[in-house]
Amino acid sequence: MLLAIESSCDETAASVCDMEGKILSNVLRTQAIHAKYGGVIPELASRAHQQTIITVVKHALETAQITKNEIKAIAVTQGPGLIGALLVGVHFAKGFALARNIPLIGVNHIQAHVLAHLIDNPNIEFPFLCLLVSGGHTQIMQVKSPLDMKIIGQTLDDAAGEAFDKGAKMLGFPYPGGHIIDKYAQNGNTEFYEFPVSNVPDFNYSFSGLKTALLYYLQKQSPEYIQDNLENICASYQHAITKALLSKFALAVEKYKPKVITLAGGVAANSYIRTKFMELGKTFNLDAYIPKFEYCTDNAAMIAIAGLHLWKAGKTSTLDMTPFTMYT
Ligand code: KG4
Ligand code: ZN
Repeated sequence: MLLAIESSCDETAASVCDMEGKILSNVLRTQAIHAKYGGVIPELASRAHQQTIITVVKHALETAQITKNEIKAIAVTQGPGLIGALLVGVHFAKGFALARNIPLIGVNHIQAHVLAHLIDNPNIEFPFLCLLVSGGHTQIMQVKSPLDMKIIGQTLDDAAGEAFDKGAKMLGFPYPGGHIIDKYAQNGNTEFYEFPVSNVPDFNYSFSGLKTALLYYLQKQSPEYIQDNLENICASYQHAITKALLSKFALAVEKYKPKVITLAGGVAANSYIRTKFMELGKTFNLDAYIPKFEYCTDNAAMIAIAGLHLWKAGKTSTLDMTPFTMYT
């Protein structure tokens, strides 16, 4: 059995998996404290992690119906993320590894989002292309094998999730508002207003212009007009983000000719993006995979599956391992 810990941002999470990668528990505690500030406050995130981590781990062990003595390795998110938040998880894991005399495995959070596909599809075909869309990252990854992946394109400014959350804030929704835009957009017209989609070179993205376009658009309208057309504005804005994401990804598919295509990260929970992504698969005659909702947003099950692959490959960490804040 392997225990995995995730504490990179505002979710404290723990998961247990067996040696075949079967997830036996997947426990998550989302920090509510940030909602009133309209974004994650790093200092508060670190404090909340250290308050809840023991309870979350205990809960994960109980749900998996095992004792801590049965844990044979511990995996933990090493980065990228907020340094104070990462330190809580990493130090918990180091203490656990030292006390139990078991291997410690540092996991890259982004690679874990990609490997979330292996939880329910362990025999997925390689190489695949993954569109990774989260609150902090937007990347196209070429995945040759579970432990061999490289970034072939990424956002030069805001992540897709930030475009959703900042747009949501402008529309008066609480943080994180991505899923609220999704909800309103379901009854709206995607062609109500054409928001500009930036085209930057190569397989890269840019979302800061789109966010500014929404700001200027909203400044020109009366509050009544915005309220009356909220569903249409959400649908048009979401459509622009989706079009930007998928048109560039389609170019990457043409160039890299993957066996299958996959979508990952918290924004993969978006219903419109999911539908359009499946349609893209049909266009290319390729199978398209999207993990279950609970494996799209931040979770520890993905850290468990990534940790298991690293452990089996002998890629364990030493006890002087330190967290990193940027993807290296
Ligand atoms: O992967 P994730 O849980 O955390 C990071 O690693 O960043 O992604 C969180 C992001 C947030 O920006 C959130 O608004 C967005 O995923 N998100 C959504 C939806 N559900 C979550 N964005 C659009 N539509 C959704 N349904
Ligand atoms: Zn994430």
